Amino acid sequence: MSARPGVIERYREHLPVTEDTPLISLGEGSTPLVLSQNIGPRLGCKALYFKLEGCNPTGSFKDRGMVMAVAKAIEAGKKRIVCASTGNTSAAAAAYGARYGLETIVLVPSGEIALGKLAQAMAYGARILAVNGSFDDALSTVFDLVDAIDAELVNSVNQFRIEGQKTGSFEIVEELGEAPDMMCLPVGNAGNITAYWKGYKEAKQLGMATSTPRMMGFQAAGAAPIVLGEPVANPETIATAIRIGNPASWKTALAARDESGGIIDKVEDREIVDAYLMLAREEGIFCEPASAASVAGLLKLGEMDVDVTDQTVVCILTGNGLKDPGTAEKRALVELEYVEPDLESVVNLLT
Ligand code: F0G
Repeated sequence: MSARPGVIERYREHLPVTEDTPLISLGEGSTPLVLSQNIGPRLGCKALYFKLEGCNPTGSFKDRGMVMAVAKAIEAGKKRIVCASTGNTSAAAAAYGARYGLETIVLVPSGEIALGKLAQAMAYGARILAVNGSFDDALSTVFDLVDAIDAELVNSVNQFRIEGQKTGSFEIVEELGEAPDMMCLPVGNAGNITAYWKGYKEAKQLGMATSTPRMMGFQAAGAAPIVLGEPVANPETIATAIRIGNPASWKTALAARDESGGIIDKVEDREIVDAYLMLAREEGIFCEPASAASVAGLLKLGEMDVDVTDQTVVCILTGNGLKDPGTAEKRALVELEYVEPDLESVVNLLT
């Protein structure tokens, strides 16, 4: 166990923890909720917060659910875990698998994983199967694979993943002393919107909050099956984390939207990149492109006739910008300025 309590220990009474569940942790959860310095005031929000899920041990929100899924896999006596992934789930599975001695097998779409995420799975020592197909192809393969090789499936269809991830809502409600009016987040396989909504409903039942937020989910325009109302055969977006054409938790995402009076809409890649750079340059927050879809969506809410003035809004920044150095290099468009290492040369360049 790490010194800082992880999500299982912090929220054990609200999680499916039995006497036999190991209280494992890599120190996940308890991530910063940072008040916006520039974007929120410009939009006229009462308060806009960014929840920095990139501060989790493997750099994404996946650790919250993975710790719970791995604890239950250990409890069930499993020796192997398997997942399909656009990158972050595989990094989280590989980390917890390595720490607790489980063989980890990850199926990823070949050539479509951001470099940082692949590097993590490699370093943690997972077996990495690069599938000649999409994330959706990989996911349908793992459903059958887990029975064939007696492994635990640790994608978000595993309900313990959802249980762990709902702790994000508890943290927000505890920190604000109330639920926000709106919550914006990216939607890919739709596990996270499902989990947050479950968490907010429970927080209200438990008396931790008197209300629940409107859930505002955003898909990338080239990978927006929920918005279009049908699967997308060849999803395409710069936000590789959410390049998903047939989300597993589609129905529960719709329930989250409808029960909360929210929306699920789409944002263009151009808008994602603009929000990604805006977060870095106006807020000092470097997240990965998929995460910036939440802010791209927030910036578009006006066009969708949703008034954000005087509202308390939380955007979930799901993953760390360092996960995808390639996009930063290509999109930030900053030229290095080469110079000799002496004062005169440097001063000449700067003046
Ligand atoms: N943001 C990031 C950084 C992600 O990695 C993902 C999903 C999402 C948002 C969307 O969350 O799937 O719960 O709707 N990544 C998965 C993966 C699919 O394999 O790492 P979701």
